[in-house]
Amino acid sequence: MAERILTDKMIEEIRAFIPRYPSKQAVTVPALHIVNEHLRCVPRQAVVEIAQILELHPSQVQDTLTFYGYFKQDAPGGKCRVWVCRSIACALRGADELLEHLEHKLHVKAGETTPDGRISLEYAECLGACEHAPCILANDDLHQSVSPEQAEQLVASVK
Ligand code: FES
Repeated sequence: MAERILTDKMIEEIRAFIPRYPSKQAVTVPALHIVNEHLRCVPRQAVVEIAQILELHPSQVQDTLTFYGYFKQDAPGGKCRVWVCRSIACALRGADELLEHLEHKLHVKAGETTPDGRISLEYAECLGACEHAPCILANDDLHQSVSPEQAEQLVASVK
């Protein structure tokens, strides 16, 4: 049997959501976020354990996980996840060049994490700030009208 991956704290945090939602299944997304905050990914064993807590089949939790594309499963994401918007407004205003610049500076491709675990570089779809394209989301912070130089400074400032 696989070793348990969810800590008591994670389980407690997930259980605390149950009374606040109309069904246990509705707690799936918060549960995934809780695990992701602690582990920076949601491994398959965590999916199984979330399913047990929520009385679901693991495939139901896995379906939700893969639907969003936000959660990493096979390895932890970087301490900072840098999302470069590639939707139309940003694409028209240089998002591809921005991404290429960051790939070059960080020596990773989009979807990868730097070997020191500092930064994951990723694509995002529209970040809702098209009038300030191109945009980058760094963890929870939105950066607008970002030049390649500013993007470079941004990733350099991540400790
Ligand atoms: S297209 Fe990039 S923020 Fe909308």
